[in-house]
Formats: sequence, structure tokens, C-alpha cells
Amino acid sequence: MSEKRIPVIIDCDPGCDDTAALLLAFRCPELDIRAITTVSGNVSLDKTTYNALRVAEVIGTDVRISPGADRPLIREAVYAPHVHGEDGLLGIDLPAPGKKASFYKAWDAIYEEAVAQKGQLEIIALGPLTNIAIALAANHDLAGMIKRIVIMGGAAQGGNVTPCAEFNIYVDPEAASMVMKSGIPLCVCGLDVTLKAYLTAAEIREIRALGTPQAELFAAVTENNCEKVFCPAGAPLHDPAAVLFAADDSLFTAQRCWMGVETQGTITRGKTVTDCWSDAQKEANVELVLDVDRERFAARIKELMAGY
Ligand code: BDR
Ligand code: CA
Repeated sequence: MSEKRIPVIIDCDPGCDDTAALLLAFRCPELDIRAITTVSGNVSLDKTTYNALRVAEVIGTDVRISPGADRPLIREAVYAPHVHGEDGLLGIDLPAPGKKASFYKAWDAIYEEAVAQKGQLEIIALGPLTNIAIALAANHDLAGMIKRIVIMGGAAQGGNVTPCAEFNIYVDPEAASMVMKSGIPLCVCGLDVTLKAYLTAAEIREIRALGTPQAELFAAVTENNCEKVFCPAGAPLHDPAAVLFAADDSLFTAQRCWMGVETQGTITRGKTVTDCWSDAQKEANVELVLDVDRERFAARIKELMAGY
């Protein structure tokens, strides 16, 4: 583990796996979480923000929570209630939050923190990239101040919303394209790795048996996605994979390559076009995460959740 904790902002749309990711992130000793920013994604912005506040209450943190964009840059919002429930958290009964969201907008929180951290700030992006695109558009010096963005999004192969596109990129492809072209060091944890980053039903039961409110919430938001056709071995932990990568990339295997986003296509909307080995040999702009040591990943999650 590095000596110095990494200052991070978690930009998210909770969301079941965002919730699991937040529960884990706040136990990672490597991460110094400066703020949570919320975005329209799995459900509407008012719901993702309320859920972030409720999850923060369960975690027991008073970290600043700044709401951001209530829709993609230029398109209509797309939600995923069939995955996360109408409220974004499967109707799970959680205590009402004691705190309110910040009046400070997500993009202002990102810029302010980037300035304060003097080039060391990292962002863990777990939803559509709208907030980050707005922050970049509003502050032309921002890109040079962010050390790295770890993105859960995209896929070199396939998709989960369409055959070509992963949800976070599909929802706001223009924002994703801006971020890909920003020059900021990017690490992309797409479906290629997140479908391998799963917990089995038995492992989720082990976590629930820890008996804490945090473990119960983790199990409740995770078990629902267990043993579906896209991941028969267990529940894929998309957003937690990005958090664990940000904290300790030694669990993962990655490859540098070029990635761009299809914004013009109809059936290819939001495809992350990836050049790992073509004759075009486009210049690499991302570190594409492709594999995970599944056993160490599961062990780390159990260890982190046992810390509550
Ligand atoms: C991603 O889409 C959302 O539904 C999840 O929270 C995750 O960020 C997976 O495609
Ligand atoms: Ca998410």
C-alpha cells in the first residue's frame, strides 16, 4: 500500500453496485474520499442523490455530497429501473439521511478539489460521465490538474444495454467522448473485466453473516444480480471493480490502447471503439483493464467488509 492516501472524488449514480462500491471505498485505507458527486444515470438525479445520502448514513460518513447533472449533455435521460428498482435501491428500507446534499454543484466540487489537491486528485467515475464533461467544459485548465480517472464503463467487446454498448457510456456518449479525448490519464474498467469480477452466492452469504448493517446492505444490493445469464458464476461487481482498481491495481491486468466513443451511430450508439492491435495502431489514450485475480478480489472484499 502506498504511504500517502490518494485524494479521490467518487462520481456515481446509486444504484445497487454503486452502493456496494461506496461501502467498500470508505474502508479502503489507500483512498482519501474528498467528496461524492452524483449524476443522473441508473435513476433520476434526485433519487441518486437521496440514495448517496442514505448510503453515507449507513457508512457513517459526513463526506460532502454534491449533486450534478440531471440529464445527459444533449440527449434525453435513460434509466435502468429494471436492474436497480424504481428508487434505485430495490426498495430496500434504509434510515432517512440526517444530512442534506451540498448546494455546491458536482462540477464545482471537482474543480475546487482539483485545485486544492495540486495535481494529485483522482476521480472514480461509476456513472455516465456527464459531470466530468461539464467540469472540463467549464474549466479549460482542469484536465492538466487531474492525476487519473478510473472509469467503470464501456467494453472492448460487447455490451449490456445494446450488443455494442455498456450502460454508462450509452447514456451519455458525448460526455464519454469528451473525457476520452481530454488527455487525462484514464483507466477503463469495462465489462471485459467487471463480468469476471464477481462474488458467488455463497460469498455474498458469508458477507451477510458478518452481521453489521453495512454487510446487510452490501448483501441486499448484490444478491439480486446473482447468476444471471451474463454472469452465471455469481454477481458481477461493476462499480466495486473500479474502486478496488483505484485502491490496488495489483489485483488486475491491463493493457494500454486507444479508445474512442461512437456518438453518431444508431445501432452502435455508445460503443467504445478499442484499438488493441489493428493496423491503424492508434495512439494509446487509456489503460484498458482486462482481467482480475478473482480469488484475491473476493478475499479483499470480504476483508474490507469485515472492517465495519
Ligand atoms: C454500470 O451501469 C450501471 O447500471 C451500474 O451501476 C454500473 O455503473 C454497468 O454497466
Ligand atoms: Ca453506476
